[in-house]
Amino acid sequence: MISLYFSHLEQLQAALEKHLTATGHEQLLIGSGALHHHFLDDTRYPFRPNPWFVYWASFLTQHPDCWLLLRPGCKPHLFYYTPRDFWHLTPALPADEWAQAFEWTAYDDLTVVRSALGSARTAIISEQPLPEGDWDLNPDGLMQAMNFDRAIKTEWEQHCLREANALAVKGHRAAREGFESGLSEYAIHQSYLNAIDHNEPDLPYDNIVGLNEHAAVLHYQFQQRVVPQAHRTLLIDAGARYNGYAADITRTHSPAGTLFADLIDALDEQQQALCAQINATTDFVSLHEQTHQVIARLLAQFDIVHGSEEQLVEQGVTRCFYPHGLGHLLGLQVHDVGGWQQDASGTLRKPPEAHPFLRLTRPLAAGFAITVEPGLYFIPQLLSDLKTQPAASDVNWSRVEELLPYGGIRIEDNLIVGEHSSENLTRDGFARLG
Ligand code: GLY
Ligand code: MN
Ligand code: MN
Repeated sequence: MISLYFSHLEQLQAALEKHLTATGHEQLLIGSGALHHHFLDDTRYPFRPNPWFVYWASFLTQHPDCWLLLRPGCKPHLFYYTPRDFWHLTPALPADEWAQAFEWTAYDDLTVVRSALGSARTAIISEQPLPEGDWDLNPDGLMQAMNFDRAIKTEWEQHCLREANALAVKGHRAAREGFESGLSEYAIHQSYLNAIDHNEPDLPYDNIVGLNEHAAVLHYQFQQRVVPQAHRTLLIDAGARYNGYAADITRTHSPAGTLFADLIDALDEQQQALCAQINATTDFVSLHEQTHQVIARLLAQFDIVHGSEEQLVEQGVTRCFYPHGLGHLLGLQVHDVGGWQQDASGTLRKPPEAHPFLRLTRPLAAGFAITVEPGLYFIPQLLSDLKTQPAASDVNWSRVEELLPYGGIRIEDNLIVGEHSSENLTRDGFARLG
């Protein structure tokens, strides 16, 4: 697998040299990121690396204050921060095979990095500026071009995303077992972490672990310690990281034999049909709009709302039950950069006005990593808005009352787009788990 990493670096280097020529820069310096302190305190937030740094240095995800210098025709040069610090462990220089791809300088004084830059025209990508110098900090043109590249994943990145999915599905299985044995949201979350051997800061985003009505809160942020009286629904949106690459998976569970469980099965079938439509020619905006027809059909089929598909979509009824986007780019960031970007110079295609939360409008291409995550929810706030609309008379409110205690459904898989089809990393991961 390490050979995939080396060829990943070669591809990145070739693309970078092209971009530097275009923007007139002679070199690029990337900072790994900084630690941030809590307000009025000496304790620190968990470290989040600069994704651009991890793009090159896949194995250095927990290393603030390092710098990577990239120059045409040269080995990438890593300035590795090794402070004299008896409060924290100063890591030794890496000796693994991957480290051979870099020149190494251990440093604890920034003048070492600054003097390495010389007088060359330098772009810097970093959250914090390097003081004293005429650098081009986070130059828009270069960053747009690089953002655009990042949507297409190299073989190495695809491997990392596959492994992140293989990890996350283990957590999802543990969570499902926890739900079936009647655990609290908190205990389900803990069993998820245990199953994937992650601490909380390792997660790509805060796990969403919603029981019952909490499944209707799209980004539910609490985990109750109390065990609820009934376990009607578990909606768990939880990921994992592998060398910085994120999985972003949602599953919804409910005991069989209820209308809601049938609704989950029906949406699951539709989600797979949507995934089957993903390839390098798919227009994701159209597919998102098509998903509203799918939701309209399910609403009618389950006797929740009456009316034609077209009418339910046009009147905005489906948006009350499915208020988010169908998916997004995935990679080093859960919502990876450039989802609205149409070209290397940064032209944006905003989502349609009726669908402001759609994060992906870029035409798909082979090698993209994306999520496909339709949902169907019973969200009190949106339902009370719907009650004031003319379409309210088409709603079977007693059916809605019956389903409200179940919260909602989201089913989310991670896919790699191919020319004529796609690879479903999540379903494959579950299948391998057995
Ligand atoms: N976990 C956040 C999302 O699905 O986009
Ligand atoms: Mn997602
Ligand atoms: Mn998610």
